[in-house]
Amino acid sequence: MELIHTVAWMKQIAAEARRGERLLGLVPTMGALHEGHLSLVREAQRQCAPVVVSIFVNPTQFGPAEDFKKYPQTIEADRAALQKLGVDYIFAPPAEEIYPAGFRTTVNVDGLSERLEGRSRPGHFRGVATVVLKLFEIVQPRMAFFGRKDAQQARVLQQMARDLNLDAEIVVCPIVREADGLAMSSRNAYLSAAERSAALVLSRSLERAKREIENGERDVLRLAAALRGVIAGERGVDLDYAEIVDADTLEPAMTLRKPAYILLAAKVGATRLIDNAFVEPSGDSLFVSV
Ligand code: PAJ
Repeated sequence: MELIHTVAWMKQIAAEARRGERLLGLVPTMGALHEGHLSLVREAQRQCAPVVVSIFVNPTQFGPAEDFKKYPQTIEADRAALQKLGVDYIFAPPAEEIYPAGFRTTVNVDGLSERLEGRSRPGHFRGVATVVLKLFEIVQPRMAFFGRKDAQQARVLQQMARDLNLDAEIVVCPIVREADGLAMSSRNAYLSAAERSAALVLSRSLERAKREIENGERDVLRLAAALRGVIAGERGVDLDYAEIVDADTLEPAMTLRKPAYILLAAKVGATRLIDNAFVEPSGDSLFVSV
């Protein structure tokens, strides 16, 4: 495994892989790796070689009052975990490699970036899209792997790839959860024991929505109200949004006849967490993945 810190060196390796017609796969991350990230790496290894994992805590996707300064950094443990999996390259540039003095150009995916996460985190998806486009230019992946944990992010990036004719195919992988249901997240490290147990209401409310849908409930307003009710019942959890949206437009879904996401965001103490379920019509029934 090789650790790469400069854009120039990473570009050279990417160009060699292209010339050799190798199927390079990229897994973009901000480090503090957990099983969710590692599941993307395994999927990348199943489909691609070589595999590049980028580790870059991207300053431009954090708001001024957010946790950029205290975002967990565990590079030694990350490196050991990726080495164990047999990853080919880690691309871990310093901030000035990605944003040299005078940097001015950004990408915005209009319409998909302003609602939901974008409403609570203005500019967040502009930061995400810009850094991912840069990573694609530097690493030149044929496939790039993202988690459905960040469903809106995956949708924004798919739209960017389509609109800008990018070569990279975007692959979206399932959510990895702790045994008790909590979606894995680098930010879970911020939770106290009491907060962690309160945070379980998010996955519990999604499981409940899944059961209701499987029992025949089709009314999105009633489902959303039930979700909000479950979360409101948990002290210490401050709901930002609980919405059922069309998986393509991310606009509120009126029915469940097309693929939809049930999207949740809440603050548990000072920590903002997100979670979701995917609802997909299949014949006469609905398939719900939490
Ligand atoms: P980060 O939060 O480190 O996540 C990196 C990738 O891991 C994302 O695609 C995310 O959806 C996925 N992931 C996180 N938790 C997961 C889980 N429990 N199950 C499955 N996948 C999970 O997302 C980012 O970084 C950044 O925005 C980035 C895309 C790297 C751009 O800076």
